[in-house]
Amino acid sequence: MTTALDWSARVGTVWAEEWRNTDRAFAGLAPYLDAAIRAAAPAGPFAALDIGCGAGATAAALAAARPDAHVTGADLSADLLAVAEARHRHANLAFRIGDALDTAAALAPLDLLVSRHGVMFFADPVAAFARLRGATRSGGRIVFSCFAAVADNPWATLVTPAAEGASGYVPGPFAFADRDRCAAILAKAGWAEATPTLVRFAYRVGEGDDPVEDAVAFLTRIGPAASRLRDAAPADRPALLARLRAALAAQRNGSVVDFPAAAWLWTARATGETI
Ligand SMILES: C[S@@+](CC[C@H](N)C(=O)[O-])C[C@H]1O[C@@H](n2cnc3c(N)ncnc32)[C@H](O)[C@@H]1O
Repeated sequence: MTTALDWSARVGTVWAEEWRNTDRAFAGLAPYLDAAIRAAAPAGPFAALDIGCGAGATAAALAAARPDAHVTGADLSADLLAVAEARHRHANLAFRIGDALDTAAALAPLDLLVSRHGVMFFADPVAAFARLRGATRSGGRIVFSCFAAVADNPWATLVTPAAEGASGYVPGPFAFADRDRCAAILAKAGWAEATPTLVRFAYRVGEGDDPVEDAVAFLTRIGPAASRLRDAAPADRPALLARLRAALAAQRNGSVVDFPAAAWLWTARATGETI
């Protein structure tokens, strides 16, 4: 489980330090998400919010593609927003620290909500998506990505078996892996026409002269292997690390280590009256 508290503190700081590697990992997914966002955007000037914008790639891509839009990126992590502000300078792009639900309410009515993997961490997802719906103009859209099943994301189980599906909703990277659960959450929260598309992409975890060590450095800081190693008894860590390194070496292809990955790309529409 990854909580708001984690993101505003340690996890956010690590992601800020690793932003090049997280952007690299998502580089195969980003073109699909960015294209879906552009397709969902209104024709004229509009207001958009990137929920959990992190280091800002998705918000910046939209701001660059649509100079007539006003785009706000919201995130809980001050460290990630510092990176976002340093990286991206567009006249029509702003970043705001805090819970994206509060930012959405403050900016309402919004025309377009977007997110790259930033909506899977709400403690109460129905209430959260209902608040987002309430901040969106009738006819407005939401477009977001989230990881699909762990079985389709083998990079997530390199040192630890899949725990997915055993229980209900648990905030974290695989919270919306179950398409039916996500559809039910969106419907209960008042979003209509919810449509998922499965995107398969290469999840790059390492590259360069020694892509295996590059990948070890990344995956021991971010993701399920990093959590498993952190939680392990010190005596168990060397064996876990060896298992990780062997799995990465087996996946190496020349100067890169790529894993198959799959994400859901969801779009939905706000219909009826604004709540
Ligand atoms: C998996 S990261 C994705 C970051 C970024 N969208 C990207 O693609 O690189 C999830 C992000 O969501 C943010 N986040 C999680 N819950 C949030 C909330 N309630 N309000 C604002 N940001 C949130 C985290 O701080 C983190 O930056």
